[in-house]
Amino acid sequence: MRSSTFSAGRCARSSSLAKFTLFVLLTGAYCYLSYLSMPARATASHRAANTERRYSNHTTKTVIHHTTEQAYDWSEVEMRLAERKDRLQNICMSGIVPDMKPNAWEFVIDAKHDLIWGNIFKAASSSWMYNFNLLGGYPDSYLRMVKKNPITLLRARFPRPTVHQLQTSLPSSLSFLIVRDPFHRLLSAYRDKLETVHSPYYRQLAKVIVARYRAKSSRYKGGPTFAEFASYVADSRKSPDEHWAPFYKFCTPCAVNFTVIAKLETLGRDQNYIIHRQKLERILTPNRLQVQNRSQGGLHTKDLIKKYYSKLNRTLMDRLVDIYRLDFELFDYSTQKYYDLLKP
Ligand SMILES: *[C@@H]1O[C@H](CO)[C@@H](O)[C@H](O)[C@H]1NC(C)=O
Ligand SMILES: *[C@@H]1O[C@H](CO)[C@@H](O)[C@H](O)[C@H]1NC(C)=O
Ligand SMILES: *[C@@H]1O[C@H](CO)[C@@H](O)[C@H](O)[C@H]1NC(C)=O
Ligand SMILES: *[C@@H]1O[C@H](CO)[C@@H](O)[C@H](O)[C@H]1NC(C)=O
Repeated sequence: MRSSTFSAGRCARSSSLAKFTLFVLLTGAYCYLSYLSMPARATASHRAANTERRYSNHTTKTVIHHTTEQAYDWSEVEMRLAERKDRLQNICMSGIVPDMKPNAWEFVIDAKHDLIWGNIFKAASSSWMYNFNLLGGYPDSYLRMVKKNPITLLRARFPRPTVHQLQTSLPSSLSFLIVRDPFHRLLSAYRDKLETVHSPYYRQLAKVIVARYRAKSSRYKGGPTFAEFASYVADSRKSPDEHWAPFYKFCTPCAVNFTVIAKLETLGRDQNYIIHRQKLERILTPNRLQVQNRSQGGLHTKDLIKKYYSKLNRTLMDRLVDIYRLDFELFDYSTQKYYDLLKP
């Protein structure tokens, strides 16, 4: 304020025509330059507004895609995944895991996208069956309404490979499996197949379990309890059902050098990595994955785990842990929290 008063005073006092002319020229130049810069500024702010409008109006799909791309530091993700692989390979080499041939029957090989999946039931398997059906070229709209069994559709596009086919495809592909806490999976299988029975096969099995494990004196008339189911699982460990067969037997991780060991507990990140690495973003768009994720519902709350596992006694817990010990070891899960639930 003071300096402008000073210069105005100086201008007024100036009587020199030359100084006046200079003043006019400078003012003119200033105005001209301001004028020139105006359209540029307007365009910039116009562009910013446009960008904002574009993002705020965009479908969820693109916004999610946008954040997914930025949310992960891929080298950090690769480090975490490499740790899982190292652990697995060390344990495989230690000799405590029985030698096995790859269980090729349960693998899906998509040669077009260089992607191989070792399917494990009750670990995002319906999501990935859906994803492979998309990769196989079935339209999303068709898959949403079709009544056919997803496995039938899947195997029409990706026939079950032989061990030889699997072994020759592995080196040039990204191979992955999805695991989860072994006892979360066991409970999920129980709740899904035997607590609420949907199929004639499991209705029959439910009767067998009740007949074998329920005391004649018991008045309880429902399907198998979790303890009865657990006793059955422990006694039939030589021929496990595919929904609760141990990972190390079902997907043979010591016989197949998987590129990625994904976990249900970090599935969002892990499957985004797979999609990112194989450049499948255009087929497996995040909103398709999200729909699948929502229907997964497989995550158990602490309460649910407590409700069921606290019903077991130590003997039965030991027998179950013994069946799944290698799964807990290979994939770095802990059995301690289950023992903590037992009554002293
Ligand atoms: C963008 O969204 C605003 C409201 O959020 C709406 O009024 C406008 O019509 C939308 N524009 C387009 C192109 O969809
Ligand atoms: C598994 O594959 C990786 C490359 O993905 C390789 O570096 C590693 O040596 C392989 N491990 C075994 C045991 O074959
Ligand atoms: C799937 O759901 C789980 C839990 O609700 C969440 O932690 C995970 O990030 C989700 N995955 C994706 C891909 O959105
Ligand atoms: C543990 O539970 C199982 C199944 O409920 C039962 O058969 C067994 O007798 C129990 N063992 C002990 C030591 O209580």
